[in-house]
Parts: sequence; structure tokens; C-alpha cells
Amino acid sequence: MRIVPVTPDLVPALSELAAATFTETFGYLFTAEDLGAFINQSYAHDVLLKVTQHSGDFWRLAFSEAGEPVGYLHVTSVQLPHETANASKDGELKRLYVRRSNHGRGLGRQLMDIAVAHLDHAFPTGAHWISVWNKNEKAIKLYGQYGFQKAGEYYFNVGSASNLMFILRREMGG
Ligand SMILES: CC(C)(COP(=O)(O)OP(=O)(O)OC[C@H]1O[C@@H](n2cnc3c(N)ncnc32)[C@H](O)[C@@H]1OP(=O)(O)O)[C@@H](O)C(=O)NCCC(=O)NCCS
Repeated sequence: MRIVPVTPDLVPALSELAAATFTETFGYLFTAEDLGAFINQSYAHDVLLKVTQHSGDFWRLAFSEAGEPVGYLHVTSVQLPHETANASKDGELKRLYVRRSNHGRGLGRQLMDIAVAHLDHAFPTGAHWISVWNKNEKAIKLYGQYGFQKAGEYYFNVGSASNLMFILRREMGG
């Protein structure tokens, strides 16, 4: 497995992987129209080209032994709707995705180790946050193993669908 920073030449691979993993995971929750609009707005090549170059944001892309993009992560300053979230010192793991064909082989944990090491390094005095769909038991279990505990809820809307999200928080040193 090779896990590397997302440089502009890797954005097409990231764009394809981000759309594929979101569709695999959550596609069934939305209409095709809403899904397409969300993917376009969030994962289109030009969108990701901009956001992956934000200074202070941390992106990593994982390639399989065969050279296929199979997982990625994004850490940034917190953007969640929680009354104690402090964007000036708290960090958020905003995305962590592994291709379904590669689930259960330890890549999620490997990416999580990298994300948490970065959160500790870049946001040493603040809290660390994640938002997760309330029924995503696999991810909730993984995050719990790193000390992320439920701290709130909010609704995330994609088109006409509204989904209950759990806000998880890990206190520094937790
Ligand atoms: C969540 C996710 C990143 C885990 O990646 P993975 O490579 O399959 O995980 P790993 O093989 O490293 O396993 C790590 C942990 O995940 C959890 N996990 C993995 N497979 C699981 C399963 N079938 N059932 C329950 N928990 C599971 C466990 O906590 C596991 O640790 P353990 O084996 O010590 O119990 C992956 O399932 C994924 O990308 N899912 C779709 C996208 C997603 O939901 N992202 C999170 C959005 S907030």
C-alpha cells in the first residue's frame, strides 16, 4: 500500500474515487438526480483541485499494490454545527473512505492512524471532531476505538433527503 499527499496530478484519481466511494456507501439513500448534483458539487475535478490546495488542509490518497486508488482522507479545521466547536483551534476528520472491494483489510485503520497523528500535530490544543451518519455502525465503531465519542447531532441534507448525523468529539489526549 502506498499512501501519498494529493498533488494536482492526482486530483483526477481522487475525484473518481471520491464519487465512487460516496455512491457505494450512501448512493441508495438519495435520488439519482440529488446524488449526481451532490457529487458534482463536492467531488468534481475543478472543485477538488481547489480544495486540495488549501493551505492547512491535509489530504492523503492510498493506492493498492496494483496501483489502484482505494482510499483517501481529508482533515481540516472544524466546520461542524456544534456550540463548542472552535474553528481557530479544533480539527475535523472530514472524510475517510475506503473502496468497498478493499474493506476489512486494515486500510481504514491505517488511514485513521495517519489522520489522528495529523490532528494531534496540527491541532494540539483543540478538540478533534468527526461527523458520521447515525446508522454507519462500522465507522462509529472504528472512531470509538480512537476515542471519538458522541457529542451532538444535526441533519445533513442532500437534495430532498435529510439524514441524521452524529457529531463525535475526541478531547485532546483522549
Ligand atoms: C469505515 C471504513 C473506513 C473502515 O475501513 P476498513 O478498511 O474496512 O477498516 P479496517 O479493515 O481497517 O477495520 C478497522 C475497524 O473498522 C471497523 N470495521 C471494519 N469492518 C467492520 C465490519 N464488517 N463490521 C463492524 N465494524 C467493522 C472495526 O472497528 C475495525 O476494527 P477491528 O477489526 O479491530 O474491530 C470503511 O468501511 C469505509 O470506507 N466505509 C465507507 C465510507 C464510510 O462510511 N466512511 C466514513 C464516513 S464518516
